[in-house]
Amino acid sequence: MKKLIVGNLKMNTTPSEFKSYAMTIATKAKGTKNSIVICPPYTHLSTAKEIFSGSKVSFGAQNISEEENGSLTGEISARMIKDLGTEYVIIGHSERRQKFKENDKTINKKIKTALANGLKVVLCVGETLQTRANKQACTFVRKQIDDDLKGIYENELESVVIAYEPIWAIGSGKNVTAKDIQKMVEAIRKEVEYLYSPKASKNISVIYGGSVGLSNCKKLLSLEFLNGALVGGASLDVDSFVVIAKENY
Ligand code: 13P
Repeated sequence: MKKLIVGNLKMNTTPSEFKSYAMTIATKAKGTKNSIVICPPYTHLSTAKEIFSGSKVSFGAQNISEEENGSLTGEISARMIKDLGTEYVIIGHSERRQKFKENDKTINKKIKTALANGLKVVLCVGETLQTRANKQACTFVRKQIDDDLKGIYENELESVVIAYEPIWAIGSGKNVTAKDIQKMVEAIRKEVEYLYSPKASKNISVIYGGSVGLSNCKKLLSLEFLNGALVGGASLDVDSFVVIAKENY
């Protein structure tokens, strides 16, 4: 099954370092049937456009302002990144929720702004270790989805991918069991069915992120209930990322 592999470079690489990284991916990604999306920092988006045009690779940003424009020093709008040919935007990453205090209301507004500007959204959800220990992980993630998708129409879900990223598994090397991922994917689909319809639940893409690397990508990407992966640390090494991106086809 064709998978969606998203690389989140976070705040790493300079524009010049990214140029050679992107050129390598564009060349080596030829021949993969998977969809590959690279999300570099904003400063690299025009280079991404230049290098990925006409290749198999799409690109996205890691955030946007919830506002369309205005006196918001230092912010970047959806329209600005769309104008650079950006196709995707990651919204609600746990690092933004935790370190930049983004709440579900802000995230909901960002999703609406992204969709209104023709961007596809990778919506990140996921629980802390404490929430998991309290056996509240599925309830917590379902509530995030409920709040984050408020007012989003069913036909707009075509442009939304849900990325399940348990916070405790990000950058930790800790592995979630396939059974736990399956349980969460089912919970996510149940919530989408509750909010929308069985059709929407079946059609929405759900990907997994959290210490996806060379050692576990084969296993994770062969899970038929998962539509792909969101890769952080391992996407920084171009050779590893190419192996992950070409997995399972
Ligand atoms: P790691 O793959 O480094 O755990 O990061 C996952 C992530 O946060 C991707 O958005």
